[in-house]
Amino acid sequence: MRVSVFGAGYVGLVTGACFAELGHDVVVRDVIEAKVDALRAGVVPIHEPGLDEILARNAERLTFTTDVGEAVAGAEVVYIAVGTPPTYSGDADLSDVWTVVDELPEVAHRIVLAMKSTVPVGTGRAVRHKLDDRGLQNVGYVSNPEFTAEGTAVRDFMQPDRVVIGAFDDADADVVASLHDGIRARIVRTDVASAEMVKLASNAFLMTRVSFINEIANVCEATGADVVAVAEAVGLDHRLGSHFLRAGIGYGGSCFPKDSLALKQLAANSGYNFQLLNAVIEVNELQKRRVIGKLERRLGPLRGKRIALLGLAFKPGTDDMREAPSLVLAGRLLSEGADVKAWDPVADGAAHFHGVEIAETALDALDGADAAVVVTEWPELREVDWAAARERMRGNVIVDGRNHLDPEALRALGFTYEGIGRPIL
Ligand code: UDX
Repeated sequence: MRVSVFGAGYVGLVTGACFAELGHDVVVRDVIEAKVDALRAGVVPIHEPGLDEILARNAERLTFTTDVGEAVAGAEVVYIAVGTPPTYSGDADLSDVWTVVDELPEVAHRIVLAMKSTVPVGTGRAVRHKLDDRGLQNVGYVSNPEFTAEGTAVRDFMQPDRVVIGAFDDADADVVASLHDGIRARIVRTDVASAEMVKLASNAFLMTRVSFINEIANVCEATGADVVAVAEAVGLDHRLGSHFLRAGIGYGGSCFPKDSLALKQLAANSGYNFQLLNAVIEVNELQKRRVIGKLERRLGPLRGKRIALLGLAFKPGTDDMREAPSLVLAGRLLSEGADVKAWDPVADGAAHFHGVEIAETALDALDGADAAVVVTEWPELREVDWAAARERMRGNVIVDGRNHLDPEALRALGFTYEGIGRPIL
């Protein structure tokens, strides 16, 4: 089939590349000319494991363009994969979605417009009205939300737990379902509003688990229990499962913070106060700041103290800095008067932090530091020569915001190690 994808961001590029891998001819359209030029030259603008390979492997089935007409010509399915960032009020900003709908040219044959971007419930209905107003009755509409996580997006797309397709018309759902031939997963068909809600509810549930285990961690700290042992045993209950029970300094990223606000506002706009979700969001905000308290208890006032931030991206395996806890942490540390030196293996620290020194290696970041904070659980941090780090640091405090390092090994080297929700010695 011929597919076009509007938006060459994390979601659009993975969607386009994976449909090409499934044998479809794909045109990816983006408004940023430099990005399209780079992609044409084989340069992938984001760090996503496996994406470079899959794009290269399917180069003959992939075209990149800025031209709407070229993107839509002959396409049977047109995906929208543009950003829907939060507005000032927390609602999703749908301007880029509306631009695509407005730009869609009249076509002689039937096409299906498929929504990949995360949008509030009711968006599909509104798009349908707009298409009808424009006389585009031969454009069908489906909601086909993505559940791919950054760092594992290609695998998540090719081996999903389920493919959700919400349609107004069964024939349109059939077209989008057949696009996924070759993917072994249950196809769940729903109405459009329910498909939109599946995405928001899935993310909200995952966030709830993270905030839940973070609160358990905080109570563990106050009572002497170890959240790592607790989470492992809790997760063995088949009714609960082990995923998203890693305690830490809170979630970030391009989806959770934005989608939780969007769902909160969606509920509020409908007159409903989603109390549980409000608490999930608030717990996450406070969780990021707990590190500051931990540092202060060890070091006293932070003015003039040197702090190494290890990991900046919102999670390992990506260069994405959107809503990364490191941004809040660095901001708080700087406002307390600390000197901050930071390291990340892929994220562009210099582009996101002012007043923070960016180090080439983790060891360089640790040089002269009074304390180190593990912000992102990069595997590289387990390979650091911590004995050498101990020599190079001025102090000996490690606050492990992801419970990523081995407490006993570090304590044996003379570090004062503190995790999240673990016994404090
Ligand atoms: C998420 C969803 O997983 C995905 O289905 C959706 O399409 C987009 O949003 P992503 O944001 O890429 O994907 O990453 P994910 O692995 O879900 O992690 C989100 C955040 O939660 C990260 O900041 C991560 O560090 C944090 N997290 C996750 C925890 O703190 N603890 C956990 O146990 C799991």
